[in-house]
Amino acid sequence: MAGAAPPVQSFAPAVRVRWVRIVNAGGAAVSAVGLGTWQFGSREWGYGAAYAGGEAARIVERALDLGVTLFDTAEIYGRGRSETILGRALAGRRDEVFLATKYAPFFPHPAAVRRHAQASLRRLGTDSVDLYQVHWPNPLAPSGPMFGALADLKRAGLVAHVGVSNHSPAGWRSAEAAFGGPILSNQVEYNLVTRGPEAELLPWAQANDRLIIAYSPLAQGAFSGRWSATSRPGGVRSFKPLFTPENMRRAEDLRATLSSVAAGYGATPSQVALAWLLRRPNVVVIPGASSVAQLEGNVAAADLDLTAEDDDRLVRAAARFEPRTGVAAAADVVRAKLGR
Ligand SMILES: NC(=O)c1ccc[n+]([C@@H]2O[C@H](COP(=O)([O-])OP(=O)(O)OC[C@H]3O[C@@H](n4cnc5c(N)ncnc54)[C@H](OP(=O)(O)O)[C@@H]3O)[C@@H](O)[C@H]2O)c1
Repeated sequence: MAGAAPPVQSFAPAVRVRWVRIVNAGGAAVSAVGLGTWQFGSREWGYGAAYAGGEAARIVERALDLGVTLFDTAEIYGRGRSETILGRALAGRRDEVFLATKYAPFFPHPAAVRRHAQASLRRLGTDSVDLYQVHWPNPLAPSGPMFGALADLKRAGLVAHVGVSNHSPAGWRSAEAAFGGPILSNQVEYNLVTRGPEAELLPWAQANDRLIIAYSPLAQGAFSGRWSATSRPGGVRSFKPLFTPENMRRAEDLRATLSSVAAGYGATPSQVALAWLLRRPNVVVIPGASSVAQLEGNVAAADLDLTAEDDDRLVRAAARFEPRTGVAAAADVVRAKLGR
């Protein structure tokens, strides 16, 4: 359930609000807009040393000052560097945040779960995290012993809540059975063009006081206006079908609709994309940011109330977008990498 939103004057990146909407579910209270930190110190995003060694900490500091409480990381991001950077940036302000990290269940033996959790806590510089998430389901290992170990961590006070990520509705429910209690959240890809969670996950979360944590809420910046058929990002995104010249061309109509809706509010397309998700109860977003200015814009999106009509316009534009997929899209990725 979302709290009431006070008005905000401007959605310009230089917004000065020190307030962010809070979403309550399952006994947890988190800011509707959180901060994703996969970008911190990870090669995949290619943001470099100046970002990892400076801008990342400034983004965290500004997020704290704007009232962001939800910070998401994972032990695999930058092989622990993201946790380390985030932990240092939060030093002295740990009690202000709802800190979430993730366990990578390659070999989910109970002893490994404990060891990995303790290593995450060390890197984060804290005695406990608020949310410990299983990063993905591991179909090759029985999940019972892993969730038993997670229940032990909770009893020992090392984690306040347990969550899952990339789990199907059935996977989420069977995780709860193995855990022996509610699993607070499922962190899944959810954005204008990836709407799978709406079929079952979201209604179930809403009916059962659980949380959907939307990752890649900006489709990794595909529709921000910064990237096009002729201007493509490097790193992990250069392998994504969404960013091929062909699909960027096909997305022109969607980008135009986002811009047109945004213009009506004096907002940016990225803010509209986040606000669209935040209209859905029990949903919070964790956009990553390559700069403090982006973070500021993203936080301000929590105060942007889209009309039902604009929501509908966006849904229709997203439905018209038919990206090339499968083998054809893979061939486009290769062609784009070869510059042809
Ligand atoms: N559980 C999982 O399996 C999983 C998977 C993926 C991500 N995640 C989590 O979710 C977080 C967010 O997802 P994501 O990083 O994949 O994608 P995202 O949040 O959709 O996109 C982040 C990127 O969008 C661009 N951007 C951000 N704010 C912007 C703004 N206001 N205006 C214009 N561009 C903006 C930036 O890239 P440029 O400026 O370079 O364009 C930024 O790095 C991650 O950091 C991570 O914590 C979890």
